[in-house]
Amino acid sequence: MSRPCGMIRSRWPSASKLGWVTNKQAFSKAVLAIGTSCLALMGYSRWALTGLDADAAVFPYLQLHAQRNGVHIAIRQGTFADLAPQELATFDLIVGADICFWEDLVDPLYRLVRLSVAVGVAEILVADPGRPPFDELCARCLQHSDTEVLAWATTTPVVESGRILRVVGNV
Ligand SMILES: C[S@@+](CC[C@H](N)C(=O)[O-])C[C@H]1O[C@@H](n2cnc3c(N)ncnc32)[C@H](O)[C@@H]1O
Repeated sequence: MSRPCGMIRSRWPSASKLGWVTNKQAFSKAVLAIGTSCLALMGYSRWALTGLDADAAVFPYLQLHAQRNGVHIAIRQGTFADLAPQELATFDLIVGADICFWEDLVDPLYRLVRLSVAVGVAEILVADPGRPPFDELCARCLQHSDTEVLAWATTTPVVESGRILRVVGNV
């Protein structure tokens, strides 16, 4: 990534909403969390978790979150565009939250989603409050029948709302 991201902060709004969607899912999945910095890891402890981020500065923070939650996470530094089909094929589930916030992230994320489906990833989930680049990503993905966009809203501890892009693979 050419720009420093400066994205480390205590809490981004969307990660915890992924927990709601994934809570009932099977154990022992290989899960890739993309754009991880401080992803809410609580719900992921039963999975083999890999965290990918372009910015190496986020990893100590990510590891601290993992330790505090009793979770082991493998670290992978790289961009969304760096993920090759062979690597994507090793995961069952790909999750991301608050990762499509710049226009130039739409292309690599769309490519990642389509490649993942093509190589057999079972499910891709991306949560966001509803930024314009995320909406564009959803619109592109909705051209395929494997995609739905779910609404989420919270009233506590804070009032927030947004959407979860869900793409289901051919499994
Ligand atoms: C807004 S933060 C969200 C962090 C995390 N999902 C959470 O909920 O705490 C966005 C993250 O995406 C990462 N990121 C931005 N562009 C990226 C890219 N092209 N490839 C990989 N990671 C990227 C940033 O470094 C940052 O850690």
